[in-house]
Amino acid sequence: MLRITLVRGDITAERADAIVNAANSSLLGGGGVDGAIHWRGGPEILAACEDLRRSHYGKGLPTGRAVATTAGRLPAEHVIHTVGPVWSREEDRSELLASCYRESLRVADELGARTVAFPAISTGIYGWPVDDGARIAVRTVRAARTEVEEVRFVLFDDKAYAAFAAAVEAAR
Ligand code: AR6
Repeated sequence: MLRITLVRGDITAERADAIVNAANSSLLGGGGVDGAIHWRGGPEILAACEDLRRSHYGKGLPTGRAVATTAGRLPAEHVIHTVGPVWSREEDRSELLASCYRESLRVADELGARTVAFPAISTGIYGWPVDDGARIAVRTVRAARTEVEEVRFVLFDDKAYAAFAAAVEAAR
């Protein structure tokens, strides 16, 4: 039975079998969570991402997909990079956001990971309203068929924490 836990903090400090990066399709770094993971994790992560680009994703990792690399100097064992959708008022991209959580858990299963820490994907630079992003995250994780035992949402600020707490409560 999968357990969902919420913590406030910085995902780069999490001791988990895997932490998830809110990356972009270049896999070559950026701001927000992505910047923090590459900064704290060191150059090994970027080197692994460059290898993945060369070997499998010449055009970049598509939105909604996930891939794993080393976690370099981070306390986690692995980093799972996923590409969230940019928020759009015109188009419903919820299924792509749900896919990020599902695909990350699928990759976690391939790695044999039992504890996985997620940030609130797409709710920063990509502009997704955090209440809606939290609902999609919690609903998708709860419905996932996975061997992962604990999903830890690591929320950077009070607003995101409150949104996830409300989403967990609503899903009971
Ligand atoms: N730990 C946990 N959460 C964090 C951290 C951290 N260290 N830093 C920020 N957050 P974002 P996105 C929160 O922007 O919206 C990058 O440039 C943040 O407050 O990291 O998916 C990539 O390369 C927000 O709630 O990811 C892409 O180009 C959430 O994490 C783009 O940003 C996600 O914010 C991806 O944008």
